[in-house]
Amino acid sequence: MTTFWSLYVTVLTLGTIFALTWLLLATRKGQRSEQTDETVGHSYDGIEEYDNPMPKWWFMLFVGTVIFALGYLVLYPGLGNWKGLLPGYQHLDTQKETPFANGQTGWTGVHEWEKEMAKADAKFGPIFAKFAAMPIEEVAKDPQALKMGGRLFASNCSVCHGSDAKGAYGFPNLTDADWRWGGSPEEIKTTIMGGRHAVMPGWSEVIGEQGVSDVAAYVLTQLDGRKLPESAKADPAKGKELFATNCAVCHGPDGKGNPLMGAPNLTHPGAFIYGSSFAQLQQTIRYGRQGQMPAQADLQGNDKVHLLAAYVYSLSHGEDAKAVE
Ligand code: HEC
Ligand code: HEC
Repeated sequence: MTTFWSLYVTVLTLGTIFALTWLLLATRKGQRSEQTDETVGHSYDGIEEYDNPMPKWWFMLFVGTVIFALGYLVLYPGLGNWKGLLPGYQHLDTQKETPFANGQTGWTGVHEWEKEMAKADAKFGPIFAKFAAMPIEEVAKDPQALKMGGRLFASNCSVCHGSDAKGAYGFPNLTDADWRWGGSPEEIKTTIMGGRHAVMPGWSEVIGEQGVSDVAAYVLTQLDGRKLPESAKADPAKGKELFATNCAVCHGPDGKGNPLMGAPNLTHPGAFIYGSSFAQLQQTIRYGRQGQMPAQADLQGNDKVHLLAAYVYSLSHGEDAKAVE
């Protein structure tokens, strides 16, 4: 903390404590000392207030909290750069990276967290390392590994992919046979380690609004085998030509996708994370999409990602995974 912010915090904290103490004493002055039946004179919705002194116990409690606060701030770090009189906090700030390892023993939330993590690493590190040395397919059959992987998934991945890993709008289902970036164990691990950034360009300026409708109609009727809404003014035959010249580079001539650039399979509704209705397809093609899977290498490290990859792999290949088209 710079000297300025240290002073700022100190002045603000002490100032507040002294101002409140002054307020307490100032309002207590001039008050009658006896209980009476008189009211202060105002009435809110018929509710009036006796003009009585503050109860003594309340006053003493307030004074007590002020004394406690001042004592606390002398003993513990709390006022800017002041480290407190108690031993154990003197090295705060000087060794930013691993404060706990540098001889600080005083209680702080960071220290508690570090202690927990050190304990967990000592306990689980060898287990993680054991699994990390096994091929992902093998790990995916181990009940203990799947339990650990499932917990990691619940705390790190379910916000986006759902607690059942079935995905949501904009987030892919990880339990089916559709893989935007490939479904082999290695591809899944690469996805989780490094993250992925999909880039589907927008097309309205290239092929025009009619072109967007035509190609959306082609995707919906020819690739996907569904019916066009009756109100749609679009020509799937023209869309087919547009697809071959503009879309096949990424999505493949038959629309089955290309995992090298995360271009998804467009041949059945279950594969569309941005919706498969005619209007939603138009929207996707008109403006493009940019899905982002955040990289986990720095957050989880190799060993945990290995377990996560095995867990994800098991969802579509495990014993109770149904063959989903
Ligand atoms: C902030 C949201 C978010 C979080 C958190 C997240 N993901 Fe993702 N993930 C995505 C998105 C979005 C995609 C799709 C990227 C794209 O459009 O191609 C994706 C794609 C994937 C894929 C590739 C799917 C495919 O079809 O190829 C896998 C595997 C995956 N995530 C696993 C995980 C795991 C495991 C975790 C937890 C460590 C995780 N994700 C956490 C958003 C998230
Ligand atoms: C540069 C490569 C590229 C080209 C060219 C391209 N796409 Fe895409 N497309 C992608 C990628 C990558 C995604 C995945 C975007 C995401 O996950 O956010 C995608 C997604 C889509 C989706 C949404 C799929 C879903 O999950 O909801 C549709 C529909 C689609 N593309 C249709 C087309 C059509 C039609 C064209 C031609 C007009 C086209 N794309 C051209 C790369 C491309």
